[in-house]
Amino acid sequence: MRFILASNNKGKLKEMKAILSELGAQVISQSEAGLNLEAEETGETFEENAIIKARAACNALGEPAIADDSGLAVEALGGAPGVYSARYGGEACQNDTERVNLLLKNLEGEKNRKAKFVSCIACVFPNGDVLTAGGECEGTITLAPRGEGGFGYDPVFELPNQGRTMAELEGGEKNAVSHRGRALKNFEMKLREYNADK
Ligand code: IMP
Repeated sequence: MRFILASNNKGKLKEMKAILSELGAQVISQSEAGLNLEAEETGETFEENAIIKARAACNALGEPAIADDSGLAVEALGGAPGVYSARYGGEACQNDTERVNLLLKNLEGEKNRKAKFVSCIACVFPNGDVLTAGGECEGTITLAPRGEGGFGYDPVFELPNQGRTMAELEGGEKNAVSHRGRALKNFEMKLREYNADK
């Protein structure tokens, strides 16, 4: 079965392709399938937004589509930026570096640096069926960015007992521990059950 990845985020697409191809699935991005689409994320939860994005691509192409909605939840900020992680700071922040700098500024002097990454994967099938799966990864926010890998908030997200940020991990290390890697593993199990029930 072929799946369309409903995302235009290069960092996410790279990780999702690597993980899903390990699971033996054939995956192509929506742009590779000729679809230029940015669905409006009007949901209030990661799950709602993941379903919105997957459903938009599935409806447009008539093929099963998978989307990830994810973000960073910082304890001292009451779970912010959360579902608004990609839009943190609004118009004032135009790229990942500016959003990271805003996060560090908002945490200045804060001792509680606990945070977690959250991912929800949704898969929508042309018959309307929906599968969802979640994954989380706990860590702490550093005082300054470190590392060149990954994307988004990776340079300021340090993993417990590692002393390294997500952006300092090598090769497939991030996918083995990340929220997205975990969510996709859970999704794989749900997909197996779904296919077995048919
Ligand atoms: P969305 O799912 O398209 O709404 O965007 C999720 C946003 O959360 C990204 O643009 C990043 O800012 C952040 N994010 C999600 N996953 C990761 C990750 O694996 N590393 C770093 N930042 C992430």
